[in-house]
Amino acid sequence: MDPKTALDDVLTEATSTIGSAVSIDELDRVESALLGKTSVIGEVRRSMGRIDAAERPVVGAALKQVTESVQDLLDRRRVELEVDDEARRLEEGRIDVTLETYVIPRGSRHLIQQTIDEVVDIFTGLGYRVADGPEAELGWYNFDALNTPPTHPSRLESDTVYLDYGADGDDEVLLRTQTSPVQVRWMEQHEPPVYVVVPGKVYRKETTDATHLPVFHQIEGLAVDESIKFSDLKGTLAHFSREFFGPETKVRLRPHFFPFTEPSAELDVSCFLCDGGVAGCRVCGGAGWLEMLGCGMVDPNVLEAVGYDPSRLSGFAFGMGVERMAMVRHGINDIRHFVDNDLRFLRQF
Ligand code: DAH
Repeated sequence: MDPKTALDDVLTEATSTIGSAVSIDELDRVESALLGKTSVIGEVRRSMGRIDAAERPVVGAALKQVTESVQDLLDRRRVELEVDDEARRLEEGRIDVTLETYVIPRGSRHLIQQTIDEVVDIFTGLGYRVADGPEAELGWYNFDALNTPPTHPSRLESDTVYLDYGADGDDEVLLRTQTSPVQVRWMEQHEPPVYVVVPGKVYRKETTDATHLPVFHQIEGLAVDESIKFSDLKGTLAHFSREFFGPETKVRLRPHFFPFTEPSAELDVSCFLCDGGVAGCRVCGGAGWLEMLGCGMVDPNVLEAVGYDPSRLSGFAFGMGVERMAMVRHGINDIRHFVDNDLRFLRQF
């Protein structure tokens, strides 16, 4: 076949092979088959010197024209394939913004934590600071420094969980039965005046039932300053009760006994549901009053135990059970709901 015809055939064939290449890789292979050394074009180019002088310009012109045409076809197809490639990549990486995403469920604070936060807020609003202390506590802080004699029944193994009985003159280590030891720890570390609240966990050897758990929460309060009077205690707790249970709440103090306060009292609040004396009221049972917390004037022995001068300073203290506050407020009839982790209960608050 003469070179001119061979080149014409190349062009015809190139049009279809280039057009049917579906990827850049394939096009690269087609390109070297059409223009490489062993291609028809390559062979014609190499044989130019051997072609008749008369024929050479014709074949040369055909070679140039076919090479350019092939190159042109290749260039166009390459651009087409690159555009396709880009479109495919965009399609693959496409995000459907109308699809719903996976929503991570939001937790919420447990009712006990909510109650603690609310009580603490009321007292910080009065200028109190928030303190905490260890749950594994020394006998000294939990009992002795709080004016509780070694013979006090709450110190028995049947009431208190001991971690270490404290042989060889070492103090015993126990799980604190109240938040009151933090009164002592705080006063040891701080100069008066003292205004603190102490939320935290406490532990007792208790059999679980509708009103008892071996682990529960208390909030302690302590105010020590010059000339603090019993009326300051009553006024502070009345303010607290009205903030927590509502502005109409009345309070009364009943005489009681705690080793670390003298005099000691229990605070009752008027029933926020029936306001006194609706027989069978589901909150107070008809009594009209709800027992809320223990309190009193700090015993001078406690002040002395921390090196405060009881002739110059006086104070009041109080301690409330958080579970009880929440139960009364929300009409919860079984303390075990707080630890059952039943979402049907927890989601109500
Ligand atoms: N710690 C007492 C208890 O667990 C409660 C208490 C009573 C705390 C009177 C006080 C207080 O600070 O003054 O039963």
